[in-house]
Amino acid sequence: MSKIAVAVIGAGTMGQGIAQLALQAGHSVYLIDQSKEQLDMAKASLSKLFVRFVEKGKITDTQAQTWIEQLTLSETVDVATDAGLVIEAIVERMDVKQSVFSTLEKIVSTKAILASNTSSLPITEIASALSVPERFMGLHFFNPPGIMPLVEVVTAVQSEVSYITQAIELMRQWGKMPVRCKDTPSFIVNRVARPYYVESFRLLEENALCKRNLDAALRTGMNFKMGPCELTDFIGQDVNYAVSESLWSALGYPPHLQPSFIQGNLVAAKYLGRKSKRGFYRYDTDEKAPLPENTTPVVAFADTVDSSNQHIGDLINGVGIYRTDGRRAADWEKDLNKPVALVDIADNAKPNALAITYSPKAKKLMDGRLPETQRLAKRWIIMPDRPGLINLRIISMIINEAATAVLLDIADEDGIDTALKGGVNYPKGAFVWLHEIGVETICHTLDALANYYGSGRYTVSPYLKDKLEEQSA
Ligand code: NAI
Repeated sequence: MSKIAVAVIGAGTMGQGIAQLALQAGHSVYLIDQSKEQLDMAKASLSKLFVRFVEKGKITDTQAQTWIEQLTLSETVDVATDAGLVIEAIVERMDVKQSVFSTLEKIVSTKAILASNTSSLPITEIASALSVPERFMGLHFFNPPGIMPLVEVVTAVQSEVSYITQAIELMRQWGKMPVRCKDTPSFIVNRVARPYYVESFRLLEENALCKRNLDAALRTGMNFKMGPCELTDFIGQDVNYAVSESLWSALGYPPHLQPSFIQGNLVAAKYLGRKSKRGFYRYDTDEKAPLPENTTPVVAFADTVDSSNQHIGDLINGVGIYRTDGRRAADWEKDLNKPVALVDIADNAKPNALAITYSPKAKKLMDGRLPETQRLAKRWIIMPDRPGLINLRIISMIINEAATAVLLDIADEDGIDTALKGGVNYPKGAFVWLHEIGVETICHTLDALANYYGSGRYTVSPYLKDKLEEQSA
């Protein structure tokens, strides 16, 4: 397979990146686009990229020249007669994609693999336009394809396993991380990672905290590369919102994936993020300058702080500090008959910002003061008494979505974890978090959220219920 010619249809953002990968893997590549201007631009930027590789000493000048010589540009598909693999990355429209593939299949051999890089269209439906649909599949790369390792290999109802196996093997040869998944709306990553945005923005909608604290909690506490506001500013609010809307409607409008009106308003205002110099944040001012030092008076700990423990310590005013298990501080207060402050979970020993919330009695006793931070955090984020605060709540929702994806056989646990790390740079996979935090705590958190909000948004996935039952048997 490694010596086959590869045809890439569409020379835009994704097509260029996919062509780059194929050239680097030693294939001759037909890059096809209806726009001559786009083709010329694609070739110019690939040449520039390879020159940069030479300057950095990654490849030789001869290597760069060979790659460019292996690239053939064309405004029509008829050049691709000997292509053994065709990857389409054109406009996201079912009718256009189907029409391109029905023309193509008459040109290439019946053994050639045909694949679409679509993010949101059903692979099975594209395949239905073909007379030999068995060799059709999704090969879903992530932006930029040259850097993001994941490729979701999407199996249509018609796909034959031998073609899927060949494609997986080829993607490995290209240095990618292929993960096999079933043809369902938004495949793996765009579905399982969705709560990172929609659930986070829900906290902003409720005014439970500000955008900077939301980003700081998840970035510095859970090691995400960017918080949800900075990340969607980077992706483009319009692009991210469109994926949320398309997934929500394709799944029949489930409450937990409802797109955020805060994000919808950003799109309406054309505050699209970095590309328009304004999104959640402004990029034409110094909005992200460090926050001023906190001068709020503090209450000291009465005893030694043990941050690894659920009971972290008691303050001198009698407020007990505990690590959240997903229940509200008010419930802890009733159970322990003691004023309680709950702190969020964190994967770092002392994050820059960590959420804390008080039970009603604790709030009175604190009277606007803060607990000493000691070894727990550099700065507190004071929250209203919501189940799971920030980190535990968002991670629980991601795990719940991942669990449902396994239940629906979209992919297995390892596949989902690989996809989250390789496609959206997650610091850990959902099932690694599940193992570390514990299925009981995750189910507690979701139940407490369901109870507090009285909403089906937080229904525990049957996959987690089964795990909990197995564990307690
Ligand atoms: P783009 O707009 O940058 O490029 C699309 C290219 O296709 C354009 O150059 C256009 O001239 C060409 N084109 C349109 N119709 C054509 C036709 N009938 N024949 C030949 N060329 C045609 O789009 P982008 O962002 O590269 O997306 C392409 C596909 O990849 C879409 O299906 C999208 O859902 C998917 N995708 C996009 C990602 C992204 O982050 N941009 C990530 C993963 C998938």
